[in-house]
Amino acid sequence: MEVWAALGGSGLPGALIVLILVVLLAVALHRSAPWETPTAPQGGPRANGHARPEQPRKAKPAARARREKPQQHSFAHRLLVAALKGHSSPVTCLDFSSNGKYLASCSEDRTVRLWSTRDLAGREHRCLRANVGLDHAEFVRLSPDSRAFIVWLANAETIRVYKMTKKEDGSFTFSATSGDFPKKHKAPVINIGIAETGKFIMTASSDTTILIWSPKGEVLASINTNQMNNAYATVSPCGRFVASCGFTPDVKVWEVCFSKNGDFREVTRAFELKGHTAGVQSFSFSNDSRRMATVSKDGTWKFWGTDVEYKKQQDPYLLLTGQCAVPEPCRIALSPDGRTVAVAGGTDIVVCNTRRGEEEERFLGVHSHRITDLAFDTTGRYVVSCGDRAIRVFHNTAGHRAVVEEMEAMLKKTGNKATRERLEQQISSALKALAAIYGKKH
Ligand SMILES: *[C@@H]1O[C@H](CO)[C@@H](O)[C@H](O)[C@H]1NC(C)=O
Repeated sequence: MEVWAALGGSGLPGALIVLILVVLLAVALHRSAPWETPTAPQGGPRANGHARPEQPRKAKPAARARREKPQQHSFAHRLLVAALKGHSSPVTCLDFSSNGKYLASCSEDRTVRLWSTRDLAGREHRCLRANVGLDHAEFVRLSPDSRAFIVWLANAETIRVYKMTKKEDGSFTFSATSGDFPKKHKAPVINIGIAETGKFIMTASSDTTILIWSPKGEVLASINTNQMNNAYATVSPCGRFVASCGFTPDVKVWEVCFSKNGDFREVTRAFELKGHTAGVQSFSFSNDSRRMATVSKDGTWKFWGTDVEYKKQQDPYLLLTGQCAVPEPCRIALSPDGRTVAVAGGTDIVVCNTRRGEEEERFLGVHSHRITDLAFDTTGRYVVSCGDRAIRVFHNTAGHRAVVEEMEAMLKKTGNKATRERLEQQISSALKALAAIYGKKH
């Protein structure tokens, strides 16, 4: 299957496309790693070392082409790092690879794109493009080794696995593995996930069903969440748990257990987050799964300690409650280090600190449509969101300030020289990062 980027769905005149392709091809061959593709802004033509240009299309009158093209939402903010443009329809899902190198996105434009996170702050944003044949992906998740990804197909209503293979000429291609997963869900799917251990895949539908699958597509277990409906569900970053929320005011967490030789054993109840007074809309784990954040219809978000031995009857504990200052329905993302949360509702995003719960940053009207996904990158330096055709990337200034605040408090308490030095070093690098963001000399 030919999956790599050749041409965007642009209405540019053929001659111009060819010209741009030649230029981009030269640039790509000159300095890109084989799989990287310089991306022209606005979903225009792109090429790389192995792209095969399509037949130039019939030239349209330029004025008409421009009128046909929907307007990009214009948005500016001091903390905006980048707007990743390339998708020609709204982006529905974002996923960072666990090694932090790639950001995967999918869209109704029938493509999945893999962006290199190395140059997020740069001017040019390169991506690889995989076409989803005769369908489009609603959700995308990268495999733990970043060599494959899975998508939820909107029309076929099932999982398809794509593997990345290196061709003889050094270029990469994504090809669908034979056979999509069997169709099992009776209600629309609201999220999918892959365990970091590679042992299972999760799909959750808007009724009360969560399915646990083997990577080959056999159903290992079916969970009834008993929450009236499922609003959100996900796999924890450690790959041990799946969790769900819905109409009821709790978050339920299960452990997916495997035997020592790797065979699936069972799904058992692990723990619950109880404290909200209305349905929970979304939740998020820190990268070590020891902290969680939840957001509810009761108008609050909560921050929890989940580093408990649930087998010894220890319960998770509430650390903080904050007020939700964005329109419902909300979604929440917890930074990898658990120091900041981002809450999105409508087209707005608010970033808060999890020590004091105060609002630190507010981004209004970020997308032309309702925000469909929100995430921190694996370093916690950036917050990314999607909702229209662009992916917007923001500096997580609140995260840097939270490091300074926490380390300064620790510094006051310690007399140990080595600890003091380590803390001072962390404070200094967070201050430097802030100074760089705000453009001050240091
Ligand atoms: C979590 O993220 C922090 C930085 O954001 C990193 O230092 C740490 O190693 C990560 N931990 C895991 C388990 O990935």
